[in-house]
Amino acid sequence: MLFEEESKIFKNEDMLSPEYLPEVLPHRENQIKQLADNLLPASKGRKPINTFIHGPPGIGKTASARYVFRELENYSGIKTIYINCWDHNTSLAILSKIVSDFGMFVQRRGWAKDEVISRLTEVLEKSKKSLLICLDEVDQLIYKDQKVLYDLLRLNQYVKNPIGMIFISNNPHAFAGLENRIISSLGMDEIEFKSYTLQEMKNILQERSSYGFRSVEEGVVALACAHALNKGGDVRIGLESLLKAGRLAERDASDKVKVEHVKKVLKDVKETKPQILKENITDVEKLILEIVDKNKITFDDLYEEYSKSVEKPLTKRMFREYVNHLNEINLVKIGQRKSDRSRFISKV
Ligand SMILES: Nc1ncnc2c1ncn2[C@@H]1O[C@H](COP(=O)(O)OP(=O)(O)OP(=O)(O)O)[C@@H](O)[C@H]1O
Ligand SMILES: [Mg+2]
Repeated sequence: MLFEEESKIFKNEDMLSPEYLPEVLPHRENQIKQLADNLLPASKGRKPINTFIHGPPGIGKTASARYVFRELENYSGIKTIYINCWDHNTSLAILSKIVSDFGMFVQRRGWAKDEVISRLTEVLEKSKKSLLICLDEVDQLIYKDQKVLYDLLRLNQYVKNPIGMIFISNNPHAFAGLENRIISSLGMDEIEFKSYTLQEMKNILQERSSYGFRSVEEGVVALACAHALNKGGDVRIGLESLLKAGRLAERDASDKVKVEHVKKVLKDVKETKPQILKENITDVEKLILEIVDKNKITFDDLYEEYSKSVEKPLTKRMFREYVNHLNEINLVKIGQRKSDRSRFISKV
C-alpha cells in the first residue's frame, strides 16, 4: 500500500513536537499576565515596559513570550518580531532581520549598519505601528556583540513608534557585564520563571498527550514526567519521551501507547540544552564544573580548590554567584548534608 492508513496511535503528532505552540499554557498564567501587562501600553501607542525573563531550560519561557506575541498581533495590530540570538548574533544581523520582517528587501552583503538603521527608521515612520522585539537567548548577544542594545535604544530617539523589548536567558545575570548606564536606560522589569513541580509537569504533559495521542495506557504520562524531572525539569524531555514512545507503539502495531514503550525509549532521550550551555559558560564556571565533576564537594572545599588553581581568585561572595548560576541552569546540584547541614555541590 502506498499511503499509510490513518494512525491508530497519533491523533495529531505535531502537538507533541517542542516547536508546537499550544492554545493554552497551564501554570504560566501569572507570568503571561505580567508580561502582557508590561507590553500592553504599546497597543495604545504608549511606551511598553521592557522585560527580562529568566529561568532554567525547558520551562515555557520562549513559549510564553511567543504566546503573548501571538495574542498581541492578533488582537491589537502591534508588530512583533521574535529573534533567537543563536541564529542572529551580531548587531547587523539583528537589525537586518527586523527590516526584512517588515517585508522590506535587505541586500545580504554590502549594507552597512547605518544604512540598515536608516531603512528601519523609514519603515517604522511609514507603518506608525508599535514594535515589540523579543531577543531570545540574549546572553549570546551580550557575549558577542552588545552594540545591538545601543542601536535599538537609539531607534527610540529617532522614531515616534513605541518600541518594547523582551529579553530571555537561562542566566539571571546575563546583563551583569553591561555598563550600568545601558542597564538603567533599558528600564527593565524582571520575570523569574521557576521549575515546574511534579504535579505541574504532569498536568502539562497530560494535556499535550491528550492532544497528540488517541489512547495511552495509565502510567505513560507519569513515567515521561518522572524522566523529565530526573533530567532537570525540561518539558521537552517529557515531550520527546512521549513522541518516541508513540512512534515505537506504531512500529509495534500496538493499539495504544504503553508503559513498556516509554521504558524502552527513555535511554535515548537525553538533555540537549546542557551541552549547548556548557559550551557557553564563563571560564570560572568551566573550572567549577571540572572540579565538581570528580566528586561531591562542600562549598568551602570547592572554593579552596578553585582558589589554588587560579592566580587571582574571585571573592567567595562572587564565586558563590557563579555556583548558584550553574545550579540555576542545572549543570550542578546544590544539596545539604543531613549530619552537619553543610552545603555540598555535585554533578547533575
Ligand atoms: N505550561 C506549558 N504548557 C504546555 N507546554 C509547555 C508549557 N511549558 C513549556 N511547554 C512546552 O515545553 C517545551 C519547551 O518550552 P520552551 O521552549 O518555552 O522552554 P524555554 O523555557 O524557552 O527553554 P530554554 O531555556 O531551553 O529555551 C515547548 O514545547 C513548550 O511548548
Ligand atoms: Mg527558549
